[in-house]
Amino acid sequence: MDFNQVPQEKKTQFALLIGQMGKSILAILFGVLILGSLWGVSSSVPEPPNFGPQLEEVPDVPWDYVLFKDVDFLQPPTTEQVAYGRRLVDATADHIGPNTNKPFAGNNLNCSSCHLDGGGKPFAAPFVTVPSQFPQFRSRENKEGTIEERVNGCMQRSMNGKPLPVDGEEMTAIVAYMEWLSYDKPRGEKIKGNKFLSVQFPDRRVDLENGKAVYIQHCQSCHMDDGQGQRALNSFTYTYPPLWGPDSYNDGAGMHRVITAAQFIKGNMPLGTTADEPLLTDEEAYDVAGYINSFARPEKANKMADFPDRTLKPMSTSYGPWADSFSADQHKFGPYAEIAAFYKAEYGLNKSK
Ligand code: HEC
Ligand code: HEC
Repeated sequence: MDFNQVPQEKKTQFALLIGQMGKSILAILFGVLILGSLWGVSSSVPEPPNFGPQLEEVPDVPWDYVLFKDVDFLQPPTTEQVAYGRRLVDATADHIGPNTNKPFAGNNLNCSSCHLDGGGKPFAAPFVTVPSQFPQFRSRENKEGTIEERVNGCMQRSMNGKPLPVDGEEMTAIVAYMEWLSYDKPRGEKIKGNKFLSVQFPDRRVDLENGKAVYIQHCQSCHMDDGQGQRALNSFTYTYPPLWGPDSYNDGAGMHRVITAAQFIKGNMPLGTTADEPLLTDEEAYDVAGYINSFARPEKANKMADFPDRTLKPMSTSYGPWADSFSADQHKFGPYAEIAAFYKAEYGLNKSK
């Protein structure tokens, strides 16, 4: 039968018939699958070891990660804790955001708004092996800092909020989750894709007009023309997070540095971009990073206390005091080559951000 010759109403009946047949076939297939999987479970797959309470929600990673991770780490009730850690990272705003009864974060971003894929994506400051790199010297505080202090750095800046209690349920779950992400990697070592992609900066000030043009072409469809992003349904989180304004990271955050933002953007934005195939050129990433950071955002209190040794302050930190006499505008928007040259000549320091 030539289907194209059949009158419309017959076509519909035909389609319905096929639909019915399809359903029965599906039902049979489904039955076979269930039987097959029952058979499979009873005959070949070993019973998972009992590591304590059942996970409320399985993290979005293979089961064997949970089952065969370091035993000294994976003690009951760690599995439950890891799952909670993952939720805290992926849906921060729903657990410790300003609209919850534990309002530690001051904005509705998630950790995973910047640490993409739950802190698993290379070149998006992944969490893999990070806890085992601590304690480490932190120039912002000019002392050895712990992983908990580092998390609280992001809580007070990127999340524009308050520190989490160091021994509290949330902090321990976040750190447990980071450990678990790192289970099969050498402790203390950095993975490929640690931190961000490096970017060659043009030796000129950010071109805000070009930044705006890049924004309109490559960013606005998700982050919206006013930079305020789009809220998710049935959640306090965002589908597309804001890039400036009252619900964004504050002016003391790493993302507020043009160099850091350009590195993040080049390797990760527009969403779906990977460091292997960046969409933007270095100049475009630099200009659009300057553009999004040219708007008002929350102000971090007490920034004067940051970087007690001023020579160690990243040169693209937008707020003073600095150990040099370059203008505030030049620190914020470049050009950076002469600032870097100054620190090299004066203090023997290599500045990369
Ligand atoms: C607005 C973006 C943003 C958000 C949101 C954010 N961070 Fe970060 N985070 C950064 C940047 C930028 C860095 C700095 C990377 C670098 O050192 O160059 C960083 C670094 C870190 C580090 C150190 C990584 C390393 O390689 O040493 C940890 C740990 C961390 N963040 C945890 C968190 C946690 C937990 C949350 C949520 C509570 C969070 N961050 C939310 C941007 C963000
Ligand atoms: C297809 C949608 C999409 C496009 C286009 C896009 N982004 Fe994003 N962007 C996202 C999403 C989604 C996140 C958060 C990641 C997550 O939740 O998994 C994000 C996160 C960010 C963040 C860190 C979080 C924050 O709120 O500060 C910055 C900065 C950013 N994008 C900048 C840009 C820039 C600049 C462009 C254009 C070059 C761009 N994005 C294009 C979807 C997009």
